[in-house]
Amino acid sequence: MQPVVVAHRGASAHRAEHTLAAYALAIEQGADGLECDVRLSRDGHLVCVHDRRVNRTSTGRGVVSELELADLAGLDFGGWHDELPPSADDLIREPVAVPSARPTERGLLTLTDLLGLIVDAPRPVTLFVETKHPVRYGGLVEAKLLATLARYGLARPASKQDSRVLMMSFSARAVRRMHRYAPRLPTVLLRDSISPMRRDGSLPPWADVTGPGVHLLRADPDYVARAAARGVATYCWTVDDPADIALCQRLGVRYLATNSPVATRRQLAG
Ligand code: G3P
Ligand code: CA
Repeated sequence: MQPVVVAHRGASAHRAEHTLAAYALAIEQGADGLECDVRLSRDGHLVCVHDRRVNRTSTGRGVVSELELADLAGLDFGGWHDELPPSADDLIREPVAVPSARPTERGLLTLTDLLGLIVDAPRPVTLFVETKHPVRYGGLVEAKLLATLARYGLARPASKQDSRVLMMSFSARAVRRMHRYAPRLPTVLLRDSISPMRRDGSLPPWADVTGPGVHLLRADPDYVARAAARGVATYCWTVDDPADIALCQRLGVRYLATNSPVATRRQLAG
């Protein structure tokens, strides 16, 4: 079975991450799923921003949780990112016709905006939402996420297989909390490292999918098979290098998070 191609922060190789333009392009590029990070603004809105601060990815400065939605909405989140790749070699490797992002697609992206895009997409697309921790609001992030998903009828799928949303976090507490709130919503436990006790591929009962960084699979490729033997699927991030894509395909990684859905899909198709 081919891996499910998940656009990491949107088609972020070609568009500024976490912008509507990046996600719209990912859908055009044939991504099966979209990955996003969420944080709470000071006034309690879930916004799609990776870093604790907005400094790297916008025209503003400051900590997301100290800014109100109106402050964040006034920032340009697209201008920092060059739409051309770093070198002409990349253009040859990835000959993608990429129209310029419209200014309206470069502003702040809320989770609600992203869910709107998914609901209106011409084909089913799965959302992989990562809650960032530690944050000053703690568990309020998961509570708010669930309430937002519920408004779109996505919080209580008929079964885990039917779910169009997976919740993810590096925080075990956050994943466990989400499982308690919504037991049928599938969860991914992200990991930068795996404790010796869990190298057998096992997961705690509140997590459904294991989420290692690709560096962990390079060091221990058999981990995917050990997890599969326990009925645990693997979500691997962030897989852009052709050798890593080939490795994940060979190992049977189920979900592959990539910054360039078009290049990854092309390589997977052979
Ligand atoms: O998809 C998981 C991956 O996004 C985790 O790392 O830092 O890019 O959020 P990060
Ligand atoms: Ca992420």
